[in-house]
Amino acid sequence: MGTRHVIVLAAGKGTRMGSHRPKVLHRLSGQTLITHVLRAARTLDPKSITVIVGHQADRVRKSLATHHDLQFVHQEAQLGTGHALLQAESMFSGMTGNLIVLSGDVPRISRKTLRSLTSAHENSHAVATVLTAKLSQPFGYGRIVRHNGTFVATVEESDATPAQRAIHEINTGIYVFQLGALFPALHQIPKMGPKHELYLPALLSKYHQSGLKVETVSTEDSNEIRGINSQNELAEVGIMIRNSKNEELMAAGVTIEDPPTTYIGVDVSVGADTVIHPGVTLEGKTSIGARCELHSGIRIVDSVVGDDVTINNFCVIRDAQIERGGQIGPFAHLRPGSTVGDAARVGNFVELKKTSLGSGSKVNHLTYLGDTNVGEGVNIGAGTITCNYDGQSKHETTIENDVFVGSGTQLVAPVTVGHEAYIAAGSCITDDVPSGSLAISRGQQKNKKGWATKKKSGNHDD
Ligand code: UD1
Ligand code: MG
Repeated sequence: MGTRHVIVLAAGKGTRMGSHRPKVLHRLSGQTLITHVLRAARTLDPKSITVIVGHQADRVRKSLATHHDLQFVHQEAQLGTGHALLQAESMFSGMTGNLIVLSGDVPRISRKTLRSLTSAHENSHAVATVLTAKLSQPFGYGRIVRHNGTFVATVEESDATPAQRAIHEINTGIYVFQLGALFPALHQIPKMGPKHELYLPALLSKYHQSGLKVETVSTEDSNEIRGINSQNELAEVGIMIRNSKNEELMAAGVTIEDPPTTYIGVDVSVGADTVIHPGVTLEGKTSIGARCELHSGIRIVDSVVGDDVTINNFCVIRDAQIERGGQIGPFAHLRPGSTVGDAARVGNFVELKKTSLGSGSKVNHLTYLGDTNVGEGVNIGAGTITCNYDGQSKHETTIENDVFVGSGTQLVAPVTVGHEAYIAAGSCITDDVPSGSLAISRGQQKNKKGWATKKKSGNHDD
């Protein structure tokens, strides 16, 4: 096996998407198209990965800021796929080995197919190998022209004769090239079409004309090579990706009640015997344990959920952690940095932000806790609010083990409530509460005897 390098073509505007967003930044199953392609690229263990950016290059680069293994090349004017590749010439000068070219808009390409493409190329000693597929509806793709079964040329849809349009074998836009023979030949391909573009597939035709060997590998799975050029194709491919993720999880023992309304990202894991009700969305690097119950209408992003957790309807959970046996919702909002300990409960209309809840603690109703550390066995009464923001900075609240916070309490941070303390309902707590004490901080109640009765009869005098 020679050295492998990967290039991803991602400089195009994607005019047919009809959108201001660069095409490769449209999302499928919660991830951008380019991220899907990079995920496949990395399975080849390449020595380098280069992304060609151009249209809204800064936006594309920024979206990939956390991908530290990438190098970028700028294609100033987008003059075709061949021109895009040519921009990387100086990066590979004097290098040998193979260059795998992937399209930023072909997101479903599998590890298996990429492996068979590269090994066919490496074994055949061809100058280039192109991945092809037979499609019942080849419209829009470049076609593969053969003579007596041997590759002769590629032809784009717009340049094809009626006979060539009838060809079902298409160019997937995925290739492997011998680096040594690539750039000198690329300089020689003709400019095509009204915009004088350099089409990368024309290089294959050029090689054949020069008597050099072009290999083809055909993939059986015509779905994985679908290019995305329109919103309609984005939606269609999105459905395919979701279906295969759902099938993979169901095969591993997850119950999905209504697959068409279940949206699970490709990097999400779910343990066996978890039941997923209709209308659930799981995104990013989320992992869900075994035997959980996820009710309808919830969205979980980049979060870790332990085993035996129940999440009731209509919760939003992001960058949070819920440990074994936790019970959440309905209508709860767990914001980044929140942790719910073993068997703890977060009930309806409760919002947690950067808050940890110790094991067995309960926050059951109508409460906001922000920047708060809650110990174990704590009961937070209905309508409790941490006043964590003074208009300029955020402050922390600490509530130690086995505290009882009465309903309607405000905790003005920074403040600490010592273990086993009691806070009377309706209190506004501005000072620390020592362990084991009762804090009561509210207006004294006065009862005016008979006042209401007099008001009714029109006789009251104050
Ligand atoms: C291309 C192929 C076609 C093939 C199809 C498979 C060419 C000329 N045609 O057509 O044979 O069947 O893919 O999906 O290559 N890009 C650049 N710079 C440019 C132009 C494009 O980086 O100047 C990038 C795009 O961002 C995109 C990729 O190259 O990621 C493919 O470009 P696109 O315009 O989608 O080509 P297709 O018309 O789909
Ligand atoms: Mg395309």
